[in-house]
Amino acid sequence: MHRPLLIAPSVLSANFTRLGEAVALVEAGGADLIHVDVMDGHFVPNLTIGPPVVKALKRVATVPLDVHLMIDNAEATVGWYLAAGADMVVVHVEACHHLHRIVQTIHEAGAKAGVALNPGTAVSAIQGIIGDVDVVLVMSVDPGFGGQAFIASTLGRIRDITAMARAKGVQPRIAVDGGIDEHTASQVVDAGADMLIAGSAVFCGEDPAAAVQALRTAASATLV
Ligand code: DX5
Ligand code: ZN
Repeated sequence: MHRPLLIAPSVLSANFTRLGEAVALVEAGGADLIHVDVMDGHFVPNLTIGPPVVKALKRVATVPLDVHLMIDNAEATVGWYLAAGADMVVVHVEACHHLHRIVQTIHEAGAKAGVALNPGTAVSAIQGIIGDVDVVLVMSVDPGFGGQAFIASTLGRIRDITAMARAKGVQPRIAVDGGIDEHTASQVVDAGADMLIAGSAVFCGEDPAAAVQALRTAASATLV
């Protein structure tokens, strides 16, 4: 029995002068969440947005905000994103010294908590936390930029994480982020993913709403 697939367009690839319109378009296409990429120029080689923009997005979004913190020392600032209205906060296993503490902080604020891991990080790094999170976010590119090519070895990693969850009797969402398009969407869902994050495939074409629908159709074909 499959849970409904979640699709979270990443506004990183949207027109930053018209973020409200971007959110409305993908919501019209059936987006389940809005994915917000926070980068600090330190953990990843790019700087994007921070709490004020999360707060602004919260005012216009009708679906939950999924805030992906690609930042060092997230323990120090996670509260800013929670206060700004994040409904889900995902932190990186590589960037947090005290994962359980930060997951607890996120849950105490009433938000869902996720842990992300980079393509080069051993899957075993999340053994100790997988039972405590709502989402495992499997990076399928090295984080920092939109529009990068999907790393094919991610498929085996998704299978390993799905098996790890099953062995522990837990059912976190398995999200995949990076290089997701109609082709890779079906592959990652076939491997066990049930949440897709896509930036350029949604926002770099003519019709973001149709792109969200196309991703769902492509991914759902493997679920029947
Ligand atoms: C990458 C970000 C992604 C990014 C995905 O570091 O975490 O969320 O927006 O962009 P695409 O879908 O273009 O790979
Ligand atoms: Zn992301």
